[in-house]
Amino acid sequence: MSDAALLSVRDLHVSFATPRGDLPAVRGISFDVRRGQVFGIVGESGCGKTATGRALLRLIPPPGRITSGQILYHGEDLLSLPETSMRALRGRRIAMVFQDPAAALNPVFTIGRQLTGVIHQHGIASGEAARQRAFALMEELGLPAPEHMAERYPHQLSGGMQQRVMLAMALAADPEIIVADEATTALDVTIQAQIVELLLRLKRERGLTIIFITHDLGLVAEICDSVAVLYMGRIVEEGGTDSIFHDTKHPYTQGLLAAMPGEGTWGRPLSVVKGSVPDATLAISGCSFAPRCPAAMPVCRSIDPAPVHFGPGHTAWCHLYGAEKDRHG
Ligand SMILES: Nc1ncnc2c1ncn2[C@@H]1O[C@H](COP(=O)(O)OP(=O)(O)OP(=O)(O)O)[C@@H](O)[C@H]1O
Ligand SMILES: [Mg+2]
Repeated sequence: MSDAALLSVRDLHVSFATPRGDLPAVRGISFDVRRGQVFGIVGESGCGKTATGRALLRLIPPPGRITSGQILYHGEDLLSLPETSMRALRGRRIAMVFQDPAAALNPVFTIGRQLTGVIHQHGIASGEAARQRAFALMEELGLPAPEHMAERYPHQLSGGMQQRVMLAMALAADPEIIVADEATTALDVTIQAQIVELLLRLKRERGLTIIFITHDLGLVAEICDSVAVLYMGRIVEEGGTDSIFHDTKHPYTQGLLAAMPGEGTWGRPLSVVKGSVPDATLAISGCSFAPRCPAAMPVCRSIDPAPVHFGPGHTAWCHLYGAEKDRHG
């Protein structure tokens, strides 16, 4: 683990058992998250973002499981901790905002009860103090009239409100790391901007470390310090947000960026990354992006690309640059 890393993921594999065989959702991912950083995980639907995020908390639902790897946090491998230690850590040290709030909130308890429950469970406060803390959190997240809101059940809230309750629950025990899985996706742009501002404020003021999972590159540009681009359960490119956006190396990242709406694209049809993600249960030989890659060479279909480094922290797994290096010695 590098000195500055708060969380180090090493060669993580996650697999889902399906009737058609094992589906490798995460295929050997490694990354480091520094304290106080916003680390983005991006990629198209199905590339393994949620599986990676949930694995950090050992919350892969069956029929999925973490098959190998290490998740190093404060010098300990979370994958070898007993479940009781993991339970104490979840929410308190590392908290998750789930992609689907309706499934993650308990339908039979009021919002207030669920929020105070988290605050109480982690020994932050109890009784009236817990209630006041819950109200303060709700207010901080822009949920109107917290006293009334606290009496409501999840199904009585809009998707955006549910998402904000999820964020309040994640922040309730003042964790060191938040894994936010599409935490702003269901929100309208004004609320989304407020949540982004809040997360950035928490990062500044509390030194909160955020793992920000999204398919929205615009948001990545706004909020992330560095970013890992996933394709079919692997990182294909990673680096500081600036280098990823302005010195893009991998054809997949280039495709994602070209598909982003922006000033230059106004009035023109958006380009998309051509083709679709192939069936993940099939064995992959060579680079997994090769079948869709506009720059694919014969070698791409047979040999797994090795990492090529471009300046501090910027790495791409792509034969284009390997070949260039070979040509220029
Ligand atoms: N419960 C499950 N059973 C079987 N396969 C699953 C299950 N959950 C996820 N997968 C598969 O694992 C792979 C990764 O899924 P994951 O949810 O991590 O993708 P994602 O990048 O978060 O996508 P999205 O942007 O749609 O949220 C996909 O191929 C998906 O079909
Ligand atoms: Mg997901």
